[in-house]
Amino acid sequence: MGSDAGSETKLAILFEEWVKGLFTIPLSLPWTKFGKALRCREELLKHIEEIVLRRQQQKDLGEDALGILLQARDEEGNSLPLDELKDQILLLLFAGQETLTLAIASFCLLISQHPNVLDRPRDEQKAFCEAPLTTENLKQMVYLDQVLKEVMRLIPPVGGGFREVIEDCEFGGYSIPIGWMIQYNIGNTHKDENLYPDHKSFDPERFSSENAVDKQKRFGYVPFGGGMRECLGKEFARLEMKIFAAMLLRGYQWELLPEQDLSLVAVPTPHPRDGLKVKFHRLVQQLTMNN
Ligand code: HEM
Repeated sequence: MGSDAGSETKLAILFEEWVKGLFTIPLSLPWTKFGKALRCREELLKHIEEIVLRRQQQKDLGEDALGILLQARDEEGNSLPLDELKDQILLLLFAGQETLTLAIASFCLLISQHPNVLDRPRDEQKAFCEAPLTTENLKQMVYLDQVLKEVMRLIPPVGGGFREVIEDCEFGGYSIPIGWMIQYNIGNTHKDENLYPDHKSFDPERFSSENAVDKQKRFGYVPFGGGMRECLGKEFARLEMKIFAAMLLRGYQWELLPEQDLSLVAVPTPHPRDGLKVKFHRLVQQLTMNN
């Protein structure tokens, strides 16, 4: 939307309050999470409306998500109505922010809990430390890819999704009639012992080119969902995660602070009960970075 201030803004505070009430009992009272979320949503939409109207006045609509949505036309040349624009922006904020921050936090968590895994991705970064962080170089960081895939297998940021059954079918011996709404579950899929033996262990080797477990079975690895409604931001998210992880590995070491409850709460996205309290230290001999 053309705003860089992130968590410092009023928008971010409202956003957090809204997300807290997204998956709660739908009881709209002033003190319930749901009630607060509804009010925050109204305010969020008001803010977004101001941003949209301001942008519409500009000559150059821009190439960010808002600019692209403003310029979108259907087959008859109609643009998106204001309400639809606001909804789409809010959807993008939720889909892209909550999930990605969670994935990055899980990376910090799992690496601190498995220090034995740290050496390899750090060595990999050393091989690139004189090189700028280009897409080409990022593609070559294959071990980091494996680590991130395993992070999202073990703690998938999204629990699952809903699909409507469009023809009678059978699954696992059960008949499922047309018209039913079904839910696919990402976490349980990633625990399938046939694909992921010892599924509780954090083992990036599962995704090495020899094992490539994510290629073994269709829809066996689905952190971004699957089919027609697979995550729209998948590649963008993978890129962001990789840049963030590479920069952390190059410049910092980190440890979990004691006395925090790391058990995972599932809603709205899986996160440690106390948040994640981490102490970062700048590496004394920082790996050099050109970019
Ligand atoms: C690690 C980060 C992310 C994860 C794990 C993730 C996961 C998912 C999943 C599982 C779905 C499918 C839900 C369903 O089946 O109904 C989905 C949908 C979607 N995601 Fe993501 N997502 C991530 C990041 C992003 C980002 C960065 C964006 C945008 C900037 C984004 C935009 C969307 C959108 C628009 C949809 C709806 C697509 C549709 O219904 O056609 N996601 N995401």
